[in-house]
Amino acid sequence: MDDLYREIIIEHYKNPLHKGRIENSDYTFEDENPLCGDHLQIELRVNADQKVVDAKFDGQGCAISISAADLLLDSIIGKSIEDLKALSKKDILDLLGIELSPVRLKCALLSLKVLKAAVYELQEADDDLIQK
Ligand code: FES
Repeated sequence: MDDLYREIIIEHYKNPLHKGRIENSDYTFEDENPLCGDHLQIELRVNADQKVVDAKFDGQGCAISISAADLLLDSIIGKSIEDLKALSKKDILDLLGIELSPVRLKCALLSLKVLKAAVYELQEADDDLIQK
């Protein structure tokens, strides 16, 4: 089963569906993984009902961080901003579907941290965001 998830991770790393930028995005935030300096920017466009109609990321990172960002953004299309505030660490781990070391966990959770800071419209991200 792990092999299937690994293939999915590699596919999203090589051919991400949500890599790019959104002009005039409604929500945006950028932050880095303090352990490696890799950084990620996430931009969202929402409709009048505050539901996500487009989501993009840009930046650089390892296969786990890029795949997690792509899988996460794919999973939030059509969700409300309130739904995004309720996302947790478990949601990312379920999307990735593999066991991760503590260092790799930081990679996996970077996009969730950035996304949450964007939707809470924070100036600074906080690791506690991903537990919420
Ligand atoms: Fe930098 Fe994974 S090694 S985000």
